[in-house]
Amino acid sequence: MIDYSNFGTTQKIIASLAKVGPHAISRWISKHSVKPILSPKESSRKLRYSVEDTRRFFKDSNISPELNKKDIILSFYNFKGGTGKTSICYQVSSHLALMGYDVLVIDADPQGHLSTSLGFDNNHNYPTLSDVVNETVSIQDAIRFVYPGLQCIPSNLAVTRLEVSLNDLPKREERFQILMEQLKGQYDFIIFDTNPTISLLNRNILVCSDHISIICETQPYSLNGLKILMEDMIKFYKGMQISLPDILVVPNKYEDRSSNCAEAMTVLRQFYSNYMIPDFAIRKSEDITTSAKQSLPLAFFARANSIALEDISDLITALLHRFVKDRDTKEMS
Ligand SMILES: Nc1ncnc2c1ncn2[C@@H]1O[C@H](COP(=O)(O)OP(=O)(O)O)[C@@H](O)[C@H]1O
Ligand SMILES: [Mg+2]
Repeated sequence: MIDYSNFGTTQKIIASLAKVGPHAISRWISKHSVKPILSPKESSRKLRYSVEDTRRFFKDSNISPELNKKDIILSFYNFKGGTGKTSICYQVSSHLALMGYDVLVIDADPQGHLSTSLGFDNNHNYPTLSDVVNETVSIQDAIRFVYPGLQCIPSNLAVTRLEVSLNDLPKREERFQILMEQLKGQYDFIIFDTNPTISLLNRNILVCSDHISIICETQPYSLNGLKILMEDMIKFYKGMQISLPDILVVPNKYEDRSSNCAEAMTVLRQFYSNYMIPDFAIRKSEDITTSAKQSLPLAFFARANSIALEDISDLITALLHRFVKDRDTKEMS
């Protein structure tokens, strides 16, 4: 596991995540005499502030909207591999934590790519979801600390066995929903990274999710799968007699000058505009790959003007907005 205590954010990064001018941050820093981490001899532009202080800024300044509900369950989904589920799940989770929320992220893919991004060794021996479902470990004991605000249940190949275990249990599609009850009130967000299969494991995640972000590539060939995915999901929820969660289609790996991407966006808008954030796609950026490889969220290393940071920050803003608004309309009805 990685010790993240020496990592932090710069004023410009905080400003970019908070969508405020850099002066708001510098004023707050001087008012509260906040000390940077590491060498204070750097120019003020380069000084980094701890995760705790970053979170404190967001909380003090009331920038992150208050949610009407605890334990909002988000999932990043697609039964196609390589679309960017894990990458986006990692960035959204790690930055929601920096923005002052309490986040639990659960790796539900036996490949464990999310776990490696979170600083876990490939062959780690920590408990996984598999141990929790088999009741050899309580869910509380399977939770690991990553950095303030961010905790996780890592995965490894043992999670492949989960499919068999779930199959033998009563209410086999609702096991996670029952497990999530045990975490009630502990987190603002519980976030699942899923594996690219149509499995019992994924159906458990669908049942307990409040929101599903379907990450798809902006390539014409990847859109056929999306149609089948949407139809299957709707049929599944109908069959389970539960209402559809909030669903977002998130186009990823968009390239400005690519005609394939432009074509894919046109088709996406034509069929799924109700599920999309207007004029938004996550652009292709080397920072996303570097981030996963180095096990460092964008905020810990990227430049403040990184397009990846900008896109992730926009996605988070749109997600937060939906939850707050969603809850409001539900309460009124
Ligand atoms: N916006 C992006 N820009 C550049 N590379 C990306 C982007 N999103 C994902 N990738 C890369 O695509 C590959 C697959 O991403 P990953 O998140 O592992 O997909 P999935 O979890 O859906 O299988 C990885 O190498 C990742 O770095
Ligand atoms: Mg993945």
